[in-house]
Amino acid sequence: MCGIVGYIGKRNSLNILIDGLKRLEYRGYDSVGIAVINDENNTNFFKKAGKVKDVEEEFDREILQGSIGIGHTRWATHGEPNDNNAHPHSDDNRNIYLVHNGIIENYTTIKKKLIIEGFTFSTDTDTEVLANLIEYYFRIKNSIEIAVRLALNEVEGTYGLACICNKEPDKIIIARLGSPLMFGLGKDEIIVSSDAAAIINHTKNVIYLEDGEMAILRRDGFQIKTIQDEDIFREAQKIEFNLEEIEKGGFEHFMLKEICEQPDTVQNTYRGRINFETGLVKLGGLDSVAEKLINAKRIIITGCGTAWHAGLVGEYMLEQYCRIPTEVEYASEFRYRNPIINQEDIVILISQSGETADTRAAMKEAQKLGATTIGIVNVVGSTIAREVDAGTYIHAGPEIGVASTKAFTCQLMSLALITLMIGKNKNTIPDSELMKIASELKNLPEKIQSIIEKRNDYKFIADEFKDSRNFLYLGRGFNFPVALEGALKLKEISYIHAEGYPAAEMKHGPIALIDENMPVVFIAPKDSTYDKIISNIEEIKARRGKIITIANEDDDEIKNYSDYVLRVPKTVPIFAPILNSIPLQFLSYYIATARNCNVDQPRNLAKSVTVE
Ligand code: AGP
Ligand code: GLU
Repeated sequence: MCGIVGYIGKRNSLNILIDGLKRLEYRGYDSVGIAVINDENNTNFFKKAGKVKDVEEEFDREILQGSIGIGHTRWATHGEPNDNNAHPHSDDNRNIYLVHNGIIENYTTIKKKLIIEGFTFSTDTDTEVLANLIEYYFRIKNSIEIAVRLALNEVEGTYGLACICNKEPDKIIIARLGSPLMFGLGKDEIIVSSDAAAIINHTKNVIYLEDGEMAILRRDGFQIKTIQDEDIFREAQKIEFNLEEIEKGGFEHFMLKEICEQPDTVQNTYRGRINFETGLVKLGGLDSVAEKLINAKRIIITGCGTAWHAGLVGEYMLEQYCRIPTEVEYASEFRYRNPIINQEDIVILISQSGETADTRAAMKEAQKLGATTIGIVNVVGSTIAREVDAGTYIHAGPEIGVASTKAFTCQLMSLALITLMIGKNKNTIPDSELMKIASELKNLPEKIQSIIEKRNDYKFIADEFKDSRNFLYLGRGFNFPVALEGALKLKEISYIHAEGYPAAEMKHGPIALIDENMPVVFIAPKDSTYDKIISNIEEIKARRGKIITIANEDDDEIKNYSDYVLRVPKTVPIFAPILNSIPLQFLSYYIATARNCNVDQPRNLAKSVTVE
């Protein structure tokens, strides 16, 4: 999720590391740090919250001298983005220095074991636990390579990491599982990075590590192994693309990149939090309020824009599966309408940025009235994340495109997890259904991927409709908020007017708008509302509206009613909004690009609206 750089060679490493970190910072990182081994084989380090350009002046160039070093820009997952939690992390003996991208899921178990062994901890991060685990094995084996290998065989989760060791000051050890890592081969030097952007101005000869591999890098060469200690032989590849392309991972826009990341990001939301066999959900951040949630008489969900749409889906989930009366409020309205809230109530605040002023104001109001507040937030350590009573992070990674895409589907996944947690404890979800839902989770990333692979089909439809002046989006039940979100995406980035409606509500007014120039997008999966949706489609067709449907792959009948069909795989109802929203993200993206709009920075909008 964040950036790693490393250097081993003959030059002074500091400028190379700082330059590398700057090249990785386009993703919006929250803290910076560097550790360098000097000629006397001592490691010096400096780390601080903030952006590289703000912190750069504070690096002490006299002290941070040396030709081996590692650096990191953090995107916090565990612990606030403050100076102390910034990487590199070291063990309590200051022998090992570690930079790490990803999440060590079993860090609490390992931490308990290390505390018994006498280790002490000074940060809130999972990474510090790994640094100490490496040191633990180093003390037994006296080899950094073996220590890293043994530690990695014990951790669960994801990592891209680079590690240096005071007692073996002539090497950098790197490893990867689920988080990219590569190294570039220069003349008498090696540059490590999580992203080719930091390597490309030094060398174009790059070796990519695969999952489950580590490498031992020296000034005069390298060795790649699996973490089971098998040798790997790999040739360097030439990277040909330019910097801009790499930052966007080869995608034309951040928005497209973020849409395409969803198989991974949705998985990051549920990773390590659910037992696939039993459906048992564990959300560590909600432990302190779990009892209250399970016994809640009423839940109020609030947020703005896309987050509010996620809240509406949450309402359907909580009412249907947990039988808890749930209300959804615009955060911007909440505090101005003298809301009736009491100490028994739970108020859930959804926010990608965790900084939206309206949502913060709603949080304060709810707290003033004595409710328990719960955050569903992406940016770790953001104001809302810090100030709520309890919370769960969605782990979508940095979202740069102004139009929210991957954060929305991760918010939906978080709400589904909360629903399953409550439903299991309240016995409102039968075990057989719970198990079916839990086992479907394993198929979800692949199903999302299958939608992404068909994205080129959308370009043709986009060309057909790029000059439309209005769009209608219609859906029922769980998919009504998906229709609202589809319409918002189109408005935001293409500047075409679009409205979302419950499909059956259309005949009470908007039907007057229908003529041969009005495209209508129907979300029509084969669920209990299917027949009713078909009737609604007929009503539009009779008035010559153009019909685009989002339908399941096995639905042959739908072709008879649609001008265009966009296919999604079938899934259980609770996850259907996740799959159904992805074609709508693509549709708006391709329409906006066909209109030459600035997709990543649409006019008048800001990523995080910090004014009321
Ligand atoms: C989404 O595409 C929007 N740009 C916007 O509606 C956004 O969801 C809203 O401003 C809330 O932001 P937050 O999730 O950071 O609180
Ligand atoms: N889990 C680590 C942390 O919170 C690394 C996060 C990252 O990928 O930046 O510090």
